[in-house]
Amino acid sequence: TAQLKKLAQDAGKMYFGTATDNGELNNTQYVNILTDTDEFGQLTPSNGMKWFAIEPEFGVFNYSMGSVVADLAEENGQILRCHNLVWHSQLAPWVDALTWSKENLTEALIAHVTAEATHWKGKCYAWDVLNEALNDDGTYRNDTFLAVLGPEYIKIAFKAAAAADPDAKLYYNDCNIERVSNKSDSARKNIIKFLQDDNIRIDGIGLQSHFTVGRSPSLDDQISNMRLFADLGLEIAITELDVRVPDPPNSTGLEMQSKVYEESVGACVQVDECVGVTVWDFYDPFSWVPDTFPGMGSATLYFANFTKHPAYQGIVNAL
Ligand code: XIL
Repeated sequence: TAQLKKLAQDAGKMYFGTATDNGELNNTQYVNILTDTDEFGQLTPSNGMKWFAIEPEFGVFNYSMGSVVADLAEENGQILRCHNLVWHSQLAPWVDALTWSKENLTEALIAHVTAEATHWKGKCYAWDVLNEALNDDGTYRNDTFLAVLGPEYIKIAFKAAAAADPDAKLYYNDCNIERVSNKSDSARKNIIKFLQDDNIRIDGIGLQSHFTVGRSPSLDDQISNMRLFADLGLEIAITELDVRVPDPPNSTGLEMQSKVYEESVGACVQVDECVGVTVWDFYDPFSWVPDTFPGMGSATLYFANFTKHPAYQGIVNAL
């Protein structure tokens, strides 16, 4: 039978991987697939490395949650993508609650990034240093970091990450930048060139690729967009691929979904600078989609009874 990581490597990609989360690891049938290293050669912790988990109180660090997935990847020889250092969401509440001076927030930001990146130094193939810093119209997202520090906070975060873990690939990761658009142009200009013009290292762009059937970018759109990032000297990764359909799905929806998975993985195959694909979990009961998008679901590769969606074969076709 086909195995995704094996096929991806034969297609010249570094990995095919998945996100996973601590609470999912007591399901043995799930874990058997998760740790089949010919299927998934890479893991991303869905939640355990986020700020709320890592630094729940100012200056108090807790790596236990993130370590569960990091250690599992290490035991199995799977590549680890680390997610994420700075994000407005799932932030520890104290960050938004305190009144900051520029000096104090700069110090707190550097302290967070440095401590976390140092903790897993040498273990992360890549760090999502900054997540979702842009609005969908391409303007900077007005979170606490922007409000206090302006766009400089982006430079502060990448500089601190580069200093703490020189071997990790440093990524900007976002959603709705998978086609050429105001937002992907803004990622190129206001994040990537913004850093490069100041000689600050950024190595990769993470295309989250949370798609909806009927609304996803075409294969060619995805390829053209990837090439624009590659032209800036960056590598590319599809970091959070899933494809939601109206729930309960019918066979038409599932066939459309298969095509969307096939096109997305296919775009990565066709662009040399795209290093790999991560699905945002592979088992419907563990997907974030139904909780976040009411009426939508069935976004992953396996149904609740562990039979495969047609999309599994779609990916095989692409590889
Ligand atoms: C999601 C997780 O999967 C959920 O468990 C959590 O409740 C919310 O966050 N973009 C990201 C991911 O970068 O971190 C998000 O993960 C999904 C959207």
